Amino acid sequence: MLTQPDSLLKYLTDAGDLRLPDGHFIDGAYQAARAGRTMHSEDPGRGETFAEFARGDADDIADAVSSSRKAFAVWRKTPPAERGRILARTAELIRRNAERLAITECLDSGKPIAEARGDVSGAARTFEYYAGACDKLEGSSFPLPANYVGFSQFEPVGVTAHIIPWNFPISTAARGMAPALAAGCTVVAKPAEQTPFTALLLAELLTEAGLPAGVCNVVTGTGTEAGAPLVAHAGIDHVTFTGSVATGGHVMRACADNVTRSVMELGGKSPVVVLNDCNFDSTIANVAGAIFEHAGQICSAGSRLVIEAGIHDRFVEALGTKAKAISLGHGLRSPDMGPVSSAAHRDKVLGFLDRARERGAEFISGGKTSPGTESGKGYFIEPTIVAHRPEDDELVQEEIFGPVLTVQKADDADHALHLANCTRFGLVAGVFTSDFAKAHQLARDIDAGQVYINEYFAGGIEVPFGGNKQSGFGREKGIEGLKSYCKVKSIAARIG
Ligand code: NAI
Ligand code: MG
Repeated sequence: MLTQPDSLLKYLTDAGDLRLPDGHFIDGAYQAARAGRTMHSEDPGRGETFAEFARGDADDIADAVSSSRKAFAVWRKTPPAERGRILARTAELIRRNAERLAITECLDSGKPIAEARGDVSGAARTFEYYAGACDKLEGSSFPLPANYVGFSQFEPVGVTAHIIPWNFPISTAARGMAPALAAGCTVVAKPAEQTPFTALLLAELLTEAGLPAGVCNVVTGTGTEAGAPLVAHAGIDHVTFTGSVATGGHVMRACADNVTRSVMELGGKSPVVVLNDCNFDSTIANVAGAIFEHAGQICSAGSRLVIEAGIHDRFVEALGTKAKAISLGHGLRSPDMGPVSSAAHRDKVLGFLDRARERGAEFISGGKTSPGTESGKGYFIEPTIVAHRPEDDELVQEEIFGPVLTVQKADDADHALHLANCTRFGLVAGVFTSDFAKAHQLARDIDAGQVYINEYFAGGIEVPFGGNKQSGFGREKGIEGLKSYCKVKSIAARIG
């Protein structure tokens, strides 16, 4: 079943063509880890190592933070318009290198090549968006008596740390780096150990676009060896963290010790509310996309279908048929769905399914692991839909981060609202109905950072994104995301 030209599939035998870096990116160049250590990244589509990278520790972090601190003195004084030109050139360079970046992301994370291409073009768009914002960051003036003048200005917060997860490596790196750089901050990024490469390549492209050395440093390695010393470093002024609630808690505690600002983008258990009067076909497509894109490994995945009773049976049956038709395979073969990120993560997801089976859950589709289509290896899980579960069920309450949708049947729109809000998370929600008033009542009353009406994942870099409740705090994307990297200074003067 070859659906891709051989030119792409050759990477299954020779990722060497990608010329992937094996050092940290510090001070404008690749450097080996101080301790000389390396580790491997896997291709989850084959369950095999495919490239080596630097295994950093506190010494490498110290080098990177000190480089970023020195560079901050230069970058904060670089005219905003010049910062914008560098970010705009970076967007262009990402586009010029799009295929190399997409293939790298596909092999490193397992996601289908089409999704990886989308992530890369989204990263270019992110740099383009914030390029245009650099010289439009205006403060306010305050209405004081005539013998005073008062105004505010935005100042960069300083050296910013970025802890990046493995599910959207280039997207998450771009959405942190671009606004931080636009605001005049410098960056030390620590990508996930499963997916280290595209953050390094981004730093290299930024340098090619004219970014001064040290303004964007990337240190690779594990969370405990490289991530923990980064967020605990006294030279860090702000941490942007995306990952699990548990690790977010550790990071917040480390930030507390130095009173470091932070933005926390943690997990989700997002509801997709479907009412009887929805557009049936487009809602089916949206609900499937909301949970099966990137095999459900999306913080904002729609992992709970909250569906009104009148449409429940017909909808769930059609959704099950759709799920069973989804093809699984290596990302470079353009399947509908790729693998999950690692053997450990596959086992974690299967653990949820095994326990659900023991509790008597009914599977509308899937429920099992699937052998890799390539080699019998690789970490595949069938697209899974579990029939109605009670509110307190683990499948309703816990983030699974895999291709697993749990159905919750609602008596009416009010009950749907109650179910939508029944977890400790509050990241996103989807609402599908043709009743304009009901859609907006639900959007008003659901406790989530963002609500999508009649199109899941609607919006782009222009729209602020972040969580409520245990999904975190602070906002990324949009102008709000830029302000996360700024501090407001108020200046008041007596002039007469
Ligand atoms: P994690 O939160 O431990 O890892 C995310 C990032 O944090 C990685 O770069 C990791 O190296 C780093 N890290 C780990 N420990 C750290 C520490 N003490 N200090 C600083 N950085 C540290 O998540 P993990 O183990 O990869 O996945 C576990 C679960 O987290 C997933 O099953 C999923 O439920 C959730 N998750 C949520 C994400 C989101 O987008 N909100 C992204 C990734 C995972
Ligand atoms: Mg990998």
